[in-house]
Formats: sequence, C-alpha cells, structure tokens
Amino acid sequence: MPALSDATRGRLLFGGDYNPEQWPEETWLDDLHLMKEARVNSVTLGVFSWSKLEPRPGAREFGWLDRLMDLLHAHGIGVVLATPTASPPPWMGARYPDTLPRDENGQVVWWGSRQQFCASSPVYREYAATLAEDLAARYAGHPALTVWHINNEYCTYCWCDETARHFRRWLRAKYGTPDALNEAWGTAFWSQRYDAWDEIIPPRRAQYMRNPAQVLDFKRFTSDALMECYLAERDIVAAHTPHIPVTTNFMPFWSGLDAWTWAEQEDVVSIDIYPDPKDPLAGQYNAMLGDMTRSQARGPWVLMEQAAGPVNWRGVNHPKPRGLNRLLSLQSVAHGADAICYFQWRQSRQGAEKFHSGMVSHAGEHGRTFQEVKRIGADLALLGEVVTGTQVHADAVLLHDWNSWWAGRQDGRPSSRVEYEQLVRAWHQALWESGITAAFAHPEQDLTPYKLVLIPHLYLLTDAAIANLLAFARGGGTVVCGFLTGAADADDRIRPGGMDVRLRELFGIGMVHEWWPLEEDETADCGDFRGTLWSEELEAAAGAETVAAYQGGELDGLPAVLRNGRAWYLSTVPEPAALRHLLADVADRAGVRPVLDGLPEGVEAVRRGDLLFVLNHGCDRVTVNVPGHHLDLLTGVLTGGTLTLGRYGVAALREDMP
Ligand code: GLA
Repeated sequence: MPALSDATRGRLLFGGDYNPEQWPEETWLDDLHLMKEARVNSVTLGVFSWSKLEPRPGAREFGWLDRLMDLLHAHGIGVVLATPTASPPPWMGARYPDTLPRDENGQVVWWGSRQQFCASSPVYREYAATLAEDLAARYAGHPALTVWHINNEYCTYCWCDETARHFRRWLRAKYGTPDALNEAWGTAFWSQRYDAWDEIIPPRRAQYMRNPAQVLDFKRFTSDALMECYLAERDIVAAHTPHIPVTTNFMPFWSGLDAWTWAEQEDVVSIDIYPDPKDPLAGQYNAMLGDMTRSQARGPWVLMEQAAGPVNWRGVNHPKPRGLNRLLSLQSVAHGADAICYFQWRQSRQGAEKFHSGMVSHAGEHGRTFQEVKRIGADLALLGEVVTGTQVHADAVLLHDWNSWWAGRQDGRPSSRVEYEQLVRAWHQALWESGITAAFAHPEQDLTPYKLVLIPHLYLLTDAAIANLLAFARGGGTVVCGFLTGAADADDRIRPGGMDVRLRELFGIGMVHEWWPLEEDETADCGDFRGTLWSEELEAAAGAETVAAYQGGELDGLPAVLRNGRAWYLSTVPEPAALRHLLADVADRAGVRPVLDGLPEGVEAVRRGDLLFVLNHGCDRVTVNVPGHHLDLLTGVLTGGTLTLGRYGVAALREDMP
C-alpha cells in the first residue's frame, strides 16, 4: 500500500490548491517563479476543473493540464492531482436533472455554485468514473504526480427519490427484513410501522419531530453513500497507479462524515483546518484537529488546506495577524503533519471566493502575506528530519464517535444547548492548557496504548464500546467520563435505567433518577467550582466517593464528581479552569505528565520524535525552562536551560549531545 512517505520523500510538503485555469497562461510562469521563491514543492491541481476538462459531455480538454504538469515537473514541484468531481459542470444538471440533489423539502439544489451532485445518482457516478479513468490513464506515468486527491470535502446531502431507493437498499442490507427495521427504529411509536421496503423514505420534512433512529441511519447511510463515490474513484486511479497514495480532504471536525471509517480507506489522511484568527484559542483548535487527524491517520497526515489570511465565510472575516500563519503551520508539523498546504495559491479575482486569502494575496508578491509564506517555506525546509515516520506520543486519549454525535444532536432531547463538538473541544482544551498531549480514538478502538481515557460525552455507546472500556479499566487504566454517556445503544434506544448498568457499576453510580439540564444563565454550585450546561440527580453506589457535591437546590448533596477507584464520572461540565484542574489532577494520578513542567500560560510544548516543539501562542515575550541543551533547528541557536520566545515564536529543539 502506498504511503505518505512515497510523496514526501524526506521533505515536508509545502504548497496549496492551484487553480491556474482562473488565470491567463502568462501568469503561470510568474506563479512558478514565486513558488520557487517560497520553496513550494507541491500543488494541488484540478479540484474544480471539471468544466474545463470536459466542457461538454464526453469531450476532453487535457492540453492545458499537460502543459501545467510538465511545467511544474520542470520546476521540481510535485502535483497532488484531484479528480474534479466535486463540482459537476452546468451541462450535467441541465441535461440530467436527476443528478441534482434535493433538500429535505424536496427542493432542487441548482448549479451555479459547487457540489451540486446526488451521491446516489448513477449518471453522476458514471460521468465521474469515466473522467477519473481518463485522468488516471493520462497521468499515471507522469513524473509530477505524487498523490491522488479524490473529489473535495465530500459533504452533499440529498433526499431525492434516487436517494430513497439507495437508502432502502442500504437498510435492507443492514436489517434484512422490515420487521427487524421496525424493531430497531421503534416504529411502534406514533404509528410508524413499515409493512414494505418501498414505504421507507429518507427523513424528509415532516409535520413534527422525525423518528430519531431513522435520522441516525440516514446520517450513517449518507456517509456510506458518499464513501461509495470515493471508493469507486479511488479504485479507478489506484488500478493505474498502485504506487501513488490516494486521499480525500476532510472538512474540519465536520459532522457529516464518519471520518474513522473513511480514514481506513485512505492511503493518506488529509484535512482542511481554518482556525478563526479572532479566537483566543485558535491554537487549541488547531492542535485538536491535528491530534484528531493524526489519530485517524495513525501517523503523519496532510494539512491539505488552511488560509494564509482571512477566509470569506464567517460573518466577519479577520486576517491573520503577523506571525500567526507561521505559528499555526509549525504547530501542525509539531502535531504530526508532513504537509502544510493552503487554499489557495493565488487569491482569485473573480467568483465567490475573491475575498478569501491566497498565499499570494491581492497585494501580490510584496504583500505581507506572501512575505510570511516565504518565511514558512524556509522554515519547513529546515525541518525535513521530522519526515521519517516520527510519531507524536500521547498517554491520554479522548474518545470520539460520529454515531454518538449524530444521535445526540437531534430534536426532542433534554437540552438543545448540548453541543457535542463544544464538549470535545472543552475537554481537549483542558488537556492542552495543562500541557498534556492528547490523541483521539473511536470507542471500539484498542485503548491499551493509553494510561488515561477521557470521554467528554458519548450519549450513544455500542455494546462493543462498553466492553472495550471495561477491559481497559480492568487492565488498570484510568477513565474519566462526562455526563449522559452510555445512555443509548447502537439503535438510539435508551438503555434500562437511563445509563448502561455496566457503566454504572464502573463509575459507582447507584441510580440516575433524572437529568437536570441547565439554562444559559444558570450554573450549579459544586462547592469549589461551578457546573454549567448540565446536572444530574444521581445516586452514588456504596463504595464510590463523592469528590464534589451539588450545594443547595434540588440536587443538594448529590454527586457532581464521582470517583470509583480509577473511574471518574462528571455529572456536570465544570467551568474551564475547574475542568482543567480536575483533568490535570486525574492525569497526574494516572501517571500522565505534561510534556514540559511549568510552562507559562499560552505556551505549548509538543514532542514529535526527537524534536521538542515549543510554541508561544501569545503576543508577549516569554521565557520557558527547557532542561538540558538543545539546538533550535529554526534558528541554529543553542539553548541551555531556558528559551526565550517572542510574539507567536516557535522553537524546534533537538537535544544537543555535548
Ligand atoms: C474548503 C474548500 C476550498 C475552499 C475553502 C475556503 O477548504 O475545500 O475549495 O472553498 O474551503 O475556505
């Protein structure tokens, strides 16, 4: 199986999406000249080129791409070649209206933007496969080709009739009989029993709340349906180039695709990450996505897209202050990325993204953005030694599962204020601020490499996941678990007692009487800290220790934090500082240490292989104690005991043997 190392060949990849079809050919040579100046060694071509490559059905216009591939190769720049299937040309929708997706209300999603395809459409699939086949045949032997990039950010949902037929096939394969489906979906409720397969439809707009198990299966189905499209194209290109790795780029922490299952089908896992420059915790967000992607990749990964400056899809779009682009780029390397790339090379002058930054902004080569890009290219060239399969070690792992996210976010819940992604982020933040490197795992994954398992909130847990967790705990591991975990089984059926009995035993919970979600302006007094978002009327079992109890109110004296040996249960969400103290304390007891002790606030330390990255996420100069003697690969300076970092400063330290 080809690997990322086949593309990196001892260097970090640096570059971005290149959309030269938006520019006259005279610009290309200028591009290449600037790319060389910035030490760009990889560009992604063809992501949105379908209408240029196939201007009318069956036509082929490869000449311009031939010239580009040759030019790039002549300049020593490798190509991540995309199948352009994310954005079908207008002719497809015009000729084949059934390729267009329909929304939940049955409304057509028209062309004129991008991604207007129904994943279940045989016509779309046929055209996509044929073009992928021709591209692969044409460029299989091209020396510039380094990676295949299938489609782009798979994310289309569709509720059309073709999708309905496909959904039924998927359900049939899963359940076998309508009766088994009726049982799993609980269709005795509200007279929803299905007598035959063709009565079943995707969860379209309905009078009132829809069947949650149906909605959950539809999410699973859509992730699988899109994956079928990916696999079809992957297999086509792989047949031509078994030595070239294949990837598709994930959207950051996006609910639509089960990235655990997708990652298993990729040679290389890649993601697009867009931290908000205005977010004081942009660095934590970037670290979290890096940790998550590294865990999915089980090794080095590709940052396929980030922004050199502002994006254009937030309400207010802020540029990156001087130095932030560099900091976040090097941070991604520290968290395991072997490729640092952008959307996009040159900022577009037309189209919907003309206010989205590029590596070369409207200000041009003398603008600050490009000057900083050049510096990053130079920095990355100094860090080639990380590209030897070096790993980031983590003793602590956060469990995360799309199924639980999908099941838990539906209507009719105790509180619509519960946002899964925010909870995952809050727990990761607590570790990040404590200097502890985190990994992520699917709850059924092998947990034995870790000392500490953290579950921010997994409303749905399968029996296999519960067994996995119990085995980890029996083996001496420490588990910390957030509220409303293990409440539902794989079908979104509430488990007897409101929480799985095996988990109740693990955490020392006698009974969960009621859930008491909190309002936005409401907190729960837990003695030393305040709980937010949620509280529970929970009875401790004999032998369990109430570490923190609710004070006053209906829950007076009941456990907010419960401990049963090495198993901890949080029935509320402590405010950030309290969550940090609590998790740091539990980590310490579990023998999980920060990478460096006594880090100043806002300074992060991550170890990747032999390199110790120290990153200042603040604007003030800081002095950091780093025991021992080190060489900073970025500056060539030797350090002995302390290190000073300026605004957004980064050091990549290798131990210096005297
Ligand atoms: C994603 C897409 C790109 C572009 C950027 C804008 O990463 O893949 O095509 O739209 O978003 O941020």
